Amino acid sequence: MRVVVTGAHGKVGRAATRALTAAGHEVTAVDVTRPVWERPDPGEPAYKQADLTDAGQAFAVVRGADAVVHAAAIPDPTANAPHVVFHNNVMATFNMAEAAIAAGVTRFVNISSETVPGFFFAEHPALPEYAPVDEEHPIRPQDPYALSKHFGEQLMDAAVRRSPIRCVSLRPSWVQHEGNYERNLGPWVRGEAEGSSGLWSYIDVYDLADAIVLATECDLPGHEVFYIASPDNGGGRDLEALIRKHYGDAVRVRPLPRPDASGISCAKATRLLGWQPRRSWRDYLDENGRSKG
Ligand SMILES: NC(=O)c1ccc[n+]([C@@H]2O[C@H](COP(=O)([O-])OP(=O)(O)OC[C@H]3O[C@@H](n4cnc5c(N)ncnc54)[C@H](O)[C@@H]3O)[C@@H](O)[C@H]2O)c1
Repeated sequence: MRVVVTGAHGKVGRAATRALTAAGHEVTAVDVTRPVWERPDPGEPAYKQADLTDAGQAFAVVRGADAVVHAAAIPDPTANAPHVVFHNNVMATFNMAEAAIAAGVTRFVNISSETVPGFFFAEHPALPEYAPVDEEHPIRPQDPYALSKHFGEQLMDAAVRRSPIRCVSLRPSWVQHEGNYERNLGPWVRGEAEGSSGLWSYIDVYDLADAIVLATECDLPGHEVFYIASPDNGGGRDLEALIRKHYGDAVRVRPLPRPDASGISCAKATRLLGWQPRRSWRDYLDENGRSKG
């Protein structure tokens, strides 16, 4: 397939571009960051610079594509003004959905977020009602980022209502790779960190890229939402004990697939996409939470 990957210069987009190319797809990488005016490396995908909040630029990059993987976004509400996060993320998704429908794209993979239900970045403290969190959990976002991702999923609902396009929204957990495991998960491994509203969940970027390839290639109808998280928690601790220690009885613990389970369930992604995560923080960090190098 001819696949447009947006946010291709970011953590997720870069890994998705490589995985889709390795799977035999013809990728066009898109990002707002500037191109490099050099001879491309062998196998390097075509690159187009576009600010996707501009409809004309979104329509221009989608022309001729069979599928879209939309990862472009400001991935957090803390470093930009709230209206900038909200406007960038909602308008980029709106324009990409409009452009994809107009161009007859058959598959749209929308990179959403684990933050949609609202317990990350909440101004008024909020916790999951139960663990492991799954796609049935109530959604009550407060901050501009989670709202933008929630509206992004609603844009996918609207897209499948009014056109033959098929959509998948993936809600990745906190994305880790060889360059950030130590700084992000090291404290959890050493038991230094306090509570985690994400219930100590994380996802390896290469496992996420595998899920993106499966979502691009699948023939699921309509719009399906999937959490994507590693099966274990970052630090490999007993999840029920962690929850009791930090949150008492505020989070109901459901039966866990393993004692060191993630706070997020990916059973739906395994069942419907055939996704099998293969990496763990243990591949990158020693028992002191330091990089294995
Ligand atoms: N990093 C995480 O832990 C995490 C977790 C859950 C979901 N996500 C989602 O995954 C996606 C990718 O996040 P990431 O971690 O790779 O972030 P990133 O900041 O590394 O990459 C995002 C890329 O999108 C580009 N971009 C932003 N706005 C754009 C626009 N208007 N037009 C064109 N390009 C634009 C940026 O230039 C950047 O290269 C985002 O949708 C994010 O919300 C990330």
